[in-house]
Amino acid sequence: MGEIIKVRGGRHLSGTVNVEGAKNSALKLMAASVIAQGVTVIENVPDIADVTIMSEVLRILGATVVRGDHTLEIDTSYLISYETPYELVAKMRASISILGPLITRFGCAKVAMPGGCQIGSRKLDLHISGLQALGVEFNTEHGFIHATTPHGLRGATITLEFPSVGATENLMMAGISAEGRTVIDNAAREPEIVDLANMLNEMGADIRGQGTPVIEIQGTRDFVPCTHRTVGDRIEAGTFLVAGALCGGPLTVCGVNPAHLDLALAKLRKMGCVIEANGDCITVSRDKPLQPTDIQTLPHPGFPTDLQAQFMVLCALAQGNSVITENVFENRFMFAGELTRMGAVIRIEGHHALIQGIERLSGAPVSSTDLRGGAALVLAGLVADGETIVSGTEHIDRGYECYVEKLAFLGADIERGPSA
Ligand code: UD1
Repeated sequence: MGEIIKVRGGRHLSGTVNVEGAKNSALKLMAASVIAQGVTVIENVPDIADVTIMSEVLRILGATVVRGDHTLEIDTSYLISYETPYELVAKMRASISILGPLITRFGCAKVAMPGGCQIGSRKLDLHISGLQALGVEFNTEHGFIHATTPHGLRGATITLEFPSVGATENLMMAGISAEGRTVIDNAAREPEIVDLANMLNEMGADIRGQGTPVIEIQGTRDFVPCTHRTVGDRIEAGTFLVAGALCGGPLTVCGVNPAHLDLALAKLRKMGCVIEANGDCITVSRDKPLQPTDIQTLPHPGFPTDLQAQFMVLCALAQGNSVITENVFENRFMFAGELTRMGAVIRIEGHHALIQGIERLSGAPVSSTDLRGGAALVLAGLVADGETIVSGTEHIDRGYECYVEKLAFLGADIERGPSA
C-alpha cells in the first residue's frame, strides 16, 4: 500500500536543516566505482530510494556494497557480469550512467533502457552518438542497449547538440580510457559533473575543464579505487529555501555551496526574500509580500529545471503575474495541474506557464506526478488553508531523505501515514 503525506498549512517555519549529498552526484559516483578494481568509498551519500536501486545494480554486476552512515563501501574486485537487469534499470533513468563505466572496465555493456521520471521523452541519442564517436558499436533490441568495442576506444572530439548532463557523464566515464585525447564540446557544467570529474581524476583519470563548456581528457588504462565525498545537494537546499521563503524563516540550510545556487538565490531576492550566505550555509527570511518574477530553466549555470516546480509555488502566491519557461524538458508542467486543484491560477501555453498570483492556496488531496513536483506539492501544503494530502510519496522518497521529518523539525505540521 502506498503512503501519503498529510500537511496542515499555516505554521511558521524557522531553524537550521542540513542537506545531504547530491542525489544526482552520488548515483554517478556509485556507477563510476565500477571503473577501478577494488574498494571505493563514497561519503556523504543520501539515504534515498534511488541509492538503494543503484546499489542493487552494482550488486547484480557482482560488487559488494556495504552501506554505513551516509557512506558506501563498494568492492568491485570480482565483477561477474556486464549486464544490468530490466527490473532495476526500468525503475530509474540514472541507471544509464553505468554504461560508460562498464565500457571502460570491460569494453562492453548490456544495459536495459531506462525508465524513471515521466518528464518528457528524455532521449539517449546524445549518449549513443557520442560513444559511437569513441568507437563504441551499439545494437538495441528487446529493451536492451548492447554496447561493444571491437576495435577499442579511440579519443575523439564530440560536440554535443545540447549540454546533456547524462551524456556528458557517460562520455567522461568512457573517454577516460580511450586512446589519446577526447574533447567534449558544449559539455554540461553542473556541479555534479565537476564532482564526478574530480572523483575520476582521483581514480587516475586525466580530465581538465570540468565546469566549463569544454572538457578535455587524456586517456589512460590505469585506474585505482579512491575515497570521495559527494558534493552537497543544491536541489534539496533550494527546496528548503523555498519552504523558508513561503513560511517566513529565518530558515538556514547547511552543507551546500552557495555558488551552486546563484540564480535561484537571485530569484528569491527578487521575490522579496533576504538571503545571507555564510560558508556552506544559506539563510532565507521574508517579511514582505512575495513579488512576481519570470524564470526560465536552462542548463547550469542557468536556473535549474529541478527547482522549477518549487518556484512555481512561490509564483502562485506572488502579488502579480509571473511566467515560467521550461527549456530543458518537454513535459515538466504536469505538477501545475495538481497545484491548480489547490486554487492556483496557472495557464500552460506550450513550454510557458503563465501564473497569476493569488492570496492563498486551499488544501486538497493531490498526487505527486514526479520527484520535484511531489516535493513542491508538500511545500504548497505548508501555506495552504486546511489540510493537504499528498499521495505518490514514492516519487519524493527517490530523492529526499527524511523530507517530512526535516520539515516537522523546522516547525511544519506534517506527518506520513498509510493511504486510506
Ligand atoms: C539530469 C538529472 C535531472 C536534471 C537534468 C537536467 C540525474 C540523475 N538527473 O538528468 O535531475 O533535471 O539532468 O539538469 O542526474 N536529451 C536528449 N538526448 C540525450 C540526452 C538528453 O535529447 O541523449 C534531452 C532530454 O530529453 C532532456 C534534456 O536533454 O530534454 C536534458 O537531459 P539531460 O541533461 O541529459 O538530463 P539527465 O541526465 O537525464
